[in-house]
Amino acid sequence: MESKKNLVLLGFMGSGKSTIGSLLAIKLNLDFIDVDHQLEKEEGISISKIFAVKGEKYFRKIEEKISIKLLKLNNKVISLGGGGFINNNIQGIVLKDSVSFWLNWKNSTLVNRIKRNKKRPLTINANEKQLKKLIKERSEVYYKANYKIDCENLDKNEIVQKIANIYENK
Ligand code: S3P
Repeated sequence: MESKKNLVLLGFMGSGKSTIGSLLAIKLNLDFIDVDHQLEKEEGISISKIFAVKGEKYFRKIEEKISIKLLKLNNKVISLGGGGFINNNIQGIVLKDSVSFWLNWKNSTLVNRIKRNKKRPLTINANEKQLKKLIKERSEVYYKANYKIDCENLDKNEIVQKIANIYENK
């Protein structure tokens, strides 16, 4: 099989990286790797527990190590954790060796999704204003991805199709 660059999905929490990533992998007949899941598997505990017991600094350290290890593979669909691309070392490898897509949504859509999901340690106590500030700060980094996909008016199959078309024509 021809060796192709990894397809990397990035974006804020709640942007659908895992859902879209697994559908894309099926469509493109590639393996799917979710960095968060892989990290939980390797550490043997949930991300919430890692934040609670060992703290965010420790989490970021292993997030960097595992993301970089996985990004060295080829022909994979990889979804990063929401903070992965903010790390300069991870970002450098993504920009050099993969085709990257930012799943972009309106702030209000992301805020509503995050408020409904109580599992994310970083945002569990955040109010709407704090979340919007974080989305704004992160978006200034996410925009460096190779492609920005405006997802707001698309259903998930349309998002998958759009990304697959770009990737396959590279
Ligand atoms: C984080 C996002 C989470 C997870 C961790 C930190 C972040 O991943 O890696 O809770 O800093 O944005 P998802 O974006 O998959 O929820």
